Amino acid sequence: MNTLSPSILAADFCELGKQIKEAGDAGAEYLHIDVMDGLFVPSISYGVPVISSIRKSTDTFFDVHLMIERPRRYIREFAESGADLINFHLEAEDHVEETVEMIRKLGKKAGITIKPKTPVQAAAPYLELVDMVLVMTVEPGFGGQKLMPDCIEKVRQLRRMIRERGLETDIEVDGGITVDNVGLALEAGANVIVAGSAVFGGDVRDNVKRFLEKMR
Ligand code: DX5
Ligand code: ZN
Repeated sequence: MNTLSPSILAADFCELGKQIKEAGDAGAEYLHIDVMDGLFVPSISYGVPVISSIRKSTDTFFDVHLMIERPRRYIREFAESGADLINFHLEAEDHVEETVEMIRKLGKKAGITIKPKTPVQAAAPYLELVDMVLVMTVEPGFGGQKLMPDCIEKVRQLRRMIRERGLETDIEVDGGITVDNVGLALEAGANVIVAGSAVFGGDVRDNVKRFLEKMR
Protein backbone atom coordinates (compact mmCIF):
# COMPACT_ATOMS: atom_id res chain seq x y z
CA MET A 1 0.00 0.00 0.00
CA ASN A 2 1.39 3.37 -1.05
CA THR A 3 0.57 6.57 0.79
CA LEU A 4 0.73 10.20 -0.34
CA SER A 5 1.88 12.76 2.21
CA PRO A 6 1.42 16.31 0.87
CA SER A 7 3.88 18.76 2.44
CA ILE A 8 2.20 21.93 3.65
CA LEU A 9 5.49 23.82 3.31
CA ALA A 10 4.27 24.67 -0.19
CA ALA A 11 0.72 25.57 0.87
CA ASP A 12 -0.81 29.05 0.85
CA PHE A 13 -0.93 29.75 4.60
CA CYS A 14 -3.85 32.16 4.22
CA GLU A 15 -5.79 29.18 2.87
CA LEU A 16 -4.18 26.44 4.94
CA GLY A 17 -7.34 24.88 6.43
CA LYS A 18 -9.05 24.87 3.05
CA GLN A 19 -6.07 23.36 1.24
CA ILE A 20 -5.61 20.64 3.86
CA LYS A 21 -9.26 19.70 3.43
CA GLU A 22 -8.92 19.63 -0.35
CA ALA A 23 -5.90 17.31 -0.15
CA GLY A 24 -7.71 14.98 2.27
CA ASP A 25 -10.96 14.96 0.30
CA ALA A 26 -9.05 14.08 -2.87
CA GLY A 27 -7.62 10.99 -1.12
CA ALA A 28 -4.29 11.97 0.48
CA GLU A 29 -4.06 9.99 3.72
CA TYR A 30 -1.13 11.76 5.40
CA LEU A 31 -0.09 15.37 5.84
CA HIS A 32 3.64 16.09 5.91
CA ILE A 33 4.62 18.87 8.31
CA ASP A 34 8.17 20.25 7.99
CA VAL A 35 9.59 21.82 11.15
CA MET A 36 12.82 23.79 10.60
CA ASP A 37 14.87 25.53 13.28
CA GLY A 38 17.30 27.70 11.31
CA LEU A 39 20.22 25.67 12.73
CA PHE A 40 19.98 22.13 11.41
CA VAL A 41 18.78 23.68 8.16
CA PRO A 42 19.09 27.34 7.10
CA SER A 43 15.34 28.01 7.08
CA ILE A 44 12.82 28.53 9.86
CA SER A 45 9.33 27.25 9.10
CA TYR A 46 6.65 26.64 11.75
CA GLY A 47 6.21 24.60 14.88
CA VAL A 48 3.96 23.45 17.69
CA PRO A 49 1.29 26.25 17.59
CA VAL A 50 0.60 25.63 13.90
CA ILE A 51 0.31 21.88 14.40
CA SER A 52 -2.03 22.27 17.40
CA SER A 53 -4.16 24.65 15.39
CA ILE A 54 -4.56 22.49 12.27
CA ARG A 55 -5.05 19.38 14.46
CA LYS A 56 -8.47 20.79 15.40
CA SER A 57 -9.60 20.91 11.78
CA THR A 58 -8.73 17.44 10.51
CA ASP A 59 -8.33 13.76 11.43
CA THR A 60 -5.65 13.26 8.76
CA PHE A 61 -2.51 11.41 9.86
CA PHE A 62 0.16 13.98 10.77
CA ASP A 63 3.60 12.98 9.51
CA VAL A 64 5.91 15.43 11.27
CA HIS A 65 9.41 15.88 9.85
CA LEU A 66 11.67 17.52 12.41
CA MET A 67 14.63 19.32 10.85
CA ILE A 68 15.88 20.57 14.19
CA GLU A 69 19.04 20.11 16.29
CA ARG A 70 18.76 17.71 19.25
CA PRO A 71 15.13 16.83 18.54
CA ARG A 72 14.84 14.82 21.78
CA ARG A 73 14.33 18.12 23.60
CA TYR A 74 11.03 18.68 21.80
CA ILE A 75 9.51 15.22 21.29
CA ARG A 76 6.95 15.60 24.07
CA GLU A 77 5.72 18.96 22.76
CA PHE A 78 5.30 17.69 19.21
CA ALA A 79 3.56 14.53 20.39
CA GLU A 80 1.16 16.58 22.49
CA SER A 81 0.50 19.00 19.63
CA GLY A 82 -1.07 16.17 17.61
CA ALA A 83 1.69 14.46 15.61
CA ASP A 84 0.91 10.84 14.66
CA LEU A 85 4.40 10.05 13.42
CA ILE A 86 7.57 11.88 14.36
CA ASN A 87 10.57 11.73 12.05
CA PHE A 88 13.90 13.10 13.24
CA HIS A 89 17.30 13.31 11.55
CA LEU A 90 20.04 10.88 12.59
CA GLU A 91 22.53 13.70 11.87
CA ALA A 92 20.88 15.90 14.51
CA GLU A 93 20.64 13.53 17.49
CA ASP A 94 23.27 11.65 19.52
CA HIS A 95 20.66 9.67 21.47
CA VAL A 96 18.80 7.91 18.68
CA GLU A 97 17.47 4.91 20.62
CA GLU A 98 16.31 7.02 23.56
CA THR A 99 14.55 9.41 21.20
CA VAL A 100 12.76 6.58 19.38
CA GLU A 101 11.75 5.10 22.73
CA MET A 102 10.41 8.42 23.89
CA ILE A 103 8.28 8.80 20.76
CA ARG A 104 6.92 5.28 21.21
CA LYS A 105 6.13 5.78 24.90
CA LEU A 106 4.06 8.82 23.93
CA GLY A 107 2.01 6.50 21.71
CA LYS A 108 3.30 7.81 18.38
CA LYS A 109 4.97 6.18 15.41
CA ALA A 110 8.70 6.83 15.11
CA GLY A 111 10.82 7.53 12.05
CA ILE A 112 14.46 8.29 11.42
CA THR A 113 15.59 10.48 8.55
CA ILE A 114 18.81 10.58 6.52
CA LYS A 115 20.15 13.44 4.43
CA PRO A 116 21.43 12.78 0.88
CA LYS A 117 25.06 12.41 1.99
CA THR A 118 24.29 10.05 4.88
CA PRO A 119 24.66 6.41 3.79
CA VAL A 120 21.85 3.94 4.40
CA GLN A 121 24.22 1.99 6.65
CA ALA A 122 23.73 4.74 9.23
CA ALA A 123 20.10 3.66 9.55
CA ALA A 124 20.90 -0.07 9.67
CA PRO A 125 21.20 -0.41 13.48
CA TYR A 126 17.71 1.04 14.01
CA LEU A 127 15.59 -0.74 11.42
CA GLU A 128 14.03 -3.08 13.98
CA LEU A 129 13.12 -0.16 16.24
CA VAL A 130 11.40 2.28 13.91
CA ASP A 131 8.22 2.39 11.84
CA MET A 132 9.76 4.41 9.03
CA VAL A 133 12.98 5.54 7.44
CA LEU A 134 12.72 8.85 5.59
CA VAL A 135 15.26 9.08 2.78
CA MET A 136 15.73 12.71 1.76
CA THR A 137 15.88 13.07 -2.01
CA VAL A 138 17.06 16.71 -1.81
CA GLU A 139 19.16 18.59 0.76
CA PRO A 140 16.65 19.45 3.48
CA GLY A 141 15.71 23.06 4.04
CA PHE A 142 13.72 24.19 1.03
CA GLY A 143 10.81 23.08 -1.10
CA GLY A 144 10.83 23.19 -4.88
CA GLN A 145 14.26 21.60 -5.47
CA LYS A 146 15.15 18.96 -8.03
CA LEU A 147 15.29 15.28 -6.99
CA MET A 148 18.82 13.87 -6.61
CA PRO A 149 18.87 10.57 -8.58
CA ASP A 150 21.60 9.01 -6.33
CA CYS A 151 19.11 9.04 -3.48
CA ILE A 152 16.81 6.68 -5.37
CA GLU A 153 19.66 4.18 -5.34
CA LYS A 154 19.76 4.54 -1.54
CA VAL A 155 16.07 3.68 -1.39
CA ARG A 156 16.77 0.51 -3.35
CA GLN A 157 19.60 -0.52 -0.98
CA LEU A 158 17.50 0.22 2.06
CA ARG A 159 14.49 -1.75 0.79
CA ARG A 160 16.78 -4.70 0.16
CA MET A 161 18.16 -4.48 3.70
CA ILE A 162 14.65 -4.25 5.18
CA ARG A 163 13.42 -7.21 3.14
CA GLU A 164 16.44 -9.34 4.03
CA ARG A 165 15.66 -8.85 7.70
CA GLY A 166 12.04 -9.81 7.17
CA LEU A 167 10.81 -6.36 8.22
CA GLU A 168 8.07 -4.18 6.78
CA THR A 169 9.48 -0.78 7.69
CA ASP A 170 8.03 2.08 5.67
CA ILE A 171 10.35 4.01 3.38
CA GLU A 172 9.39 7.61 2.79
CA VAL A 173 10.95 9.84 0.12
CA ASP A 174 10.93 13.61 0.38
CA GLY A 175 12.09 16.32 -2.00
CA GLY A 176 11.58 17.00 -5.68
CA ILE A 177 8.96 14.29 -6.16
CA THR A 178 6.56 14.91 -9.06
CA VAL A 179 3.97 12.84 -10.93
CA ASP A 180 6.65 12.21 -13.53
CA ASN A 181 9.29 10.73 -11.21
CA VAL A 182 7.16 9.17 -8.45
CA GLY A 183 7.25 5.88 -10.37
CA LEU A 184 11.03 5.70 -9.92
CA ALA A 185 10.76 6.10 -6.17
CA LEU A 186 8.02 3.47 -5.89
CA GLU A 187 9.86 1.04 -8.09
CA ALA A 188 12.97 1.43 -5.90
CA GLY A 189 10.92 0.50 -2.84
CA ALA A 190 9.51 3.69 -1.32
CA ASN A 191 5.92 3.41 -0.11
CA VAL A 192 5.26 6.83 1.47
CA ILE A 193 5.58 9.76 -0.91
CA VAL A 194 6.02 13.37 0.15
CA ALA A 195 5.16 16.09 -2.36
CA GLY A 196 5.07 19.79 -1.62
CA SER A 197 5.12 22.03 -4.67
CA ALA A 198 3.77 19.26 -6.91
CA VAL A 199 0.62 19.14 -4.75
CA PHE A 200 0.11 22.70 -3.50
CA GLY A 201 1.35 24.48 -6.62
CA GLY A 202 -1.82 24.66 -8.74
CA ASP A 203 -5.07 22.82 -8.16
CA VAL A 204 -4.66 20.72 -5.02
CA ARG A 205 -7.43 18.23 -5.77
CA ASP A 206 -6.28 17.62 -9.35
CA ASN A 207 -2.67 17.22 -8.24
CA VAL A 208 -3.53 14.72 -5.50
CA LYS A 209 -5.68 12.71 -7.89
CA ARG A 210 -2.92 12.65 -10.49
CA PHE A 211 -0.43 11.38 -7.90
CA LEU A 212 -2.79 8.71 -6.61
CA GLU A 213 -3.37 7.39 -10.10
CA LYS A 214 0.39 6.88 -10.51
CA MET A 215 0.68 5.31 -7.07
CA ARG A 216 -1.92 2.55 -7.39
C1 DX5 B 1 12.45 19.95 2.40
C2 DX5 B 1 11.23 19.38 3.07
C3 DX5 B 1 10.24 18.86 2.12
C4 DX5 B 1 9.64 19.86 1.15
C5 DX5 B 1 9.42 19.13 -0.13
O1 DX5 B 1 13.42 20.16 3.33
O2 DX5 B 1 11.60 18.33 3.93
O3 DX5 B 1 9.21 18.15 2.78
O4 DX5 B 1 8.45 20.44 1.59
O5 DX5 B 1 9.04 20.02 -1.10
P1 DX5 B 1 9.02 19.64 -2.64
O6 DX5 B 1 8.09 18.50 -2.82
O7 DX5 B 1 8.55 20.91 -3.28
O8 DX5 B 1 10.44 19.31 -3.02
ZN1 ZN C 1 9.93 17.07 4.72
